[in-house]
Amino acid sequence: MKFKKFIYALAPMAGVTDFAFRKICSDFGADMVVTEMISLKAIENNNSRTSKMLKEESKAIRVCQIFGHEVGTFENAFKNNSFENFDIIDLNCGCPAPKIVKNKDGCFMMSDMENSKKVISCLVKCANKPVSVKFRLGIFDNLNYIEFAKMCEQCGVSFLTLHARTREQGYAGTVDKEAYKKLVEAVNIPVFWSGDIKTKKDVEFAKQIGCAGVMIGRASLGNPEIFSVLKGKTPPYTKKEAIIKHLNMLKTYFKSERTLVAYFKKHLMWYVRATKNATLTKLKILEFNTLKQIENLIDEL
Ligand SMILES: Cc1cc2nc3c(=O)[nH]c(=O)nc-3n(C[C@H](O)[C@H](O)[C@H](O)COP(=O)(O)O)c2cc1C
Repeated sequence: MKFKKFIYALAPMAGVTDFAFRKICSDFGADMVVTEMISLKAIENNNSRTSKMLKEESKAIRVCQIFGHEVGTFENAFKNNSFENFDIIDLNCGCPAPKIVKNKDGCFMMSDMENSKKVISCLVKCANKPVSVKFRLGIFDNLNYIEFAKMCEQCGVSFLTLHARTREQGYAGTVDKEAYKKLVEAVNIPVFWSGDIKTKKDVEFAKQIGCAGVMIGRASLGNPEIFSVLKGKTPPYTKKEAIIKHLNMLKTYFKSERTLVAYFKKHLMWYVRATKNATLTKLKILEFNTLKQIENLIDEL
């Protein structure tokens, strides 16, 4: 797969990159957006909550990130066109969460090359669209990311995304910048940089070493404007408008006011981070339990 230009992508974030946030980030200039990780097992079993996560309205390149580790699940899950809203399927091989790894998903895939090879080859065959894989440096001191990446390339994967930390590092410390360079040199498919991208300087470095794009995660929390800022473009609307749009789009997505409020409070805390008296405002938000309280606060922003 060849990208015509350098890609600024919204990284996949469980519990964060809902369809509304993805749409807003694409409005602000994200060229590619990635869903939260979606369980293939749940898709196979027609789980209605998971199927809802396949809603997609953004105008960017649309990527659905899945996780799973059994060939049979991959074959079944791709039978009924569940992923028709998406341009690319990304396989999560980097999630470090104990409940995911214990189940042989996420980062565990890096420690079982034989099974991963089977699963990834099967995905490339079943997906009917380009497949990418997102992974880490490795587990403990087994930094096998180059070997893993070459295996993915051999299986027909279209591009790779590296988050250059080990499973044990989680999100702590800094990424290993040299690792991105080594990876770009080791494979002949595009490499995306995920990890600690916050400034134009960070992006420039990724470009210089030959990455095809960057994925932006934590720096986008409550801050979809980052895509306009990094690309030097005028934002299409204000943060306040972004918050209102985000909330309004989610109103039909959640079944009850209670679940919407509980979910949106998290985003609202990020949105108000840079405002005056942010600490006090966040304490107030923690106590909210109605939509009216959220809307009154947004009015005051
Ligand atoms: C709240 C949160 C949820 C995440 N969920 C996922 C996920 O579902 N799939 C995935 O591949 N990575 C996930 N990540 C990792 C990010 O995609 C990204 O690789 C990592 O945060 C490093 O990039 P950053 O420094 O730009 O945040 C998550 C990160 C955060 C902070």
